Amino acid sequence: MGREYQIAVIAGDGVGPEVVREGLRVLDAVRDLEGFRYKTTLFPFGAEHYLKTRELMPATVLDELRQFDAIYLGAIGDPRVETGLLERAIVAGVRFGLDLYVNLRPVKLYHEDLTPLKAKKPADVDMVFVRENTEDLYVGIHGFFKKGTPDEIALQEMVMTRKGVERAVRYAFELARRPERHQRLMLIDKSNALRGQDIWTRVFEEVGAEYPDITRDHAYIDAATMWLVKNPEWFDVAVVPNMFGDIITDLGAAIQGGMGLAASGNLHPGRVSMFEPIHGSAPKHAGRNVICPLAAIAAVQMLLDYVGETQAAARIEAAFRTVLGSGQFRDLSTASGIPTPEYTSRVLAALRAGAKG
Ligand code: IPM
Ligand code: MG
Repeated sequence: MGREYQIAVIAGDGVGPEVVREGLRVLDAVRDLEGFRYKTTLFPFGAEHYLKTRELMPATVLDELRQFDAIYLGAIGDPRVETGLLERAIVAGVRFGLDLYVNLRPVKLYHEDLTPLKAKKPADVDMVFVRENTEDLYVGIHGFFKKGTPDEIALQEMVMTRKGVERAVRYAFELARRPERHQRLMLIDKSNALRGQDIWTRVFEEVGAEYPDITRDHAYIDAATMWLVKNPEWFDVAVVPNMFGDIITDLGAAIQGGMGLAASGNLHPGRVSMFEPIHGSAPKHAGRNVICPLAAIAAVQMLLDYVGETQAAARIEAAFRTVLGSGQFRDLSTASGIPTPEYTSRVLAALRAGAKG
């Protein structure tokens, strides 16, 4: 029978559909090379669907999504819809609804010309962020008192649980132990000013005692952002609470070549997980054929790795090394003048050449 995967696709809004289309071209190519099969099922959620039907994402969809091997997401968000409504219902809806507690965000520089950092080389920028993905300021506990008056009070609660912190920390220690990493793990928090985050510091020490082979490091988020620019070579694996993780991984994306390249996996190990480029829907660029789809292709790579098609994932990684490492692309921004499908065509050419060689 061979391996067959069921993949749920939420192409979403803005540039989402155009980058997902390119990601699927690459998935087709590695399928042919590796001999697995897959079937996609499209879910229509996003702005168009909402504006037509007033439906965001019904809760029953989570049960459907549980039947798949993986979820491939483009991007969600549209200026015609109230701020954050779609993002919370769909992106956060799937993350929370399926308890995808790790947001894995690799940052890897393929060529020195791609980084805005002066005198940094690929060897200096190679790290993975383990962003906790189901707690913190993102739990949605918020409210307003005397809204719209001069006496207004607004609240947004930062929630951290022992279980939630511990599973993210454990995942990060296990990752740091893998042979392709360097057995170093940095905890990033702000426990000097936000004393509640002391739970991160304590859990990190406790769990860390079970991993004597992993070198532990601790940085406050403000210092970590400074070091990421000044000394990215100090980073290997880092574990970080949700909100800070959101912010620092955009900085991470910038130092590896921009949002056009940054991908992520929303994981619950052993269960259906979701893979996406970390850029948003970029509505002003939608349909202009200027967006770099490499982030969405990198998300396919992560998806394949997760479902166990490690060779297929390695083929994509090798193609990225060929295409980006050789300096074929020095600018992945929307100003580069490179049409969206051209990026994919180069990746496909490298994949095919790699298969022959
Ligand atoms: C991300 C995005 C999301 C987040 C938004 C779209 C809710 O910025 O995946 O980093 O804040 O997590
Ligand atoms: Mg973000």
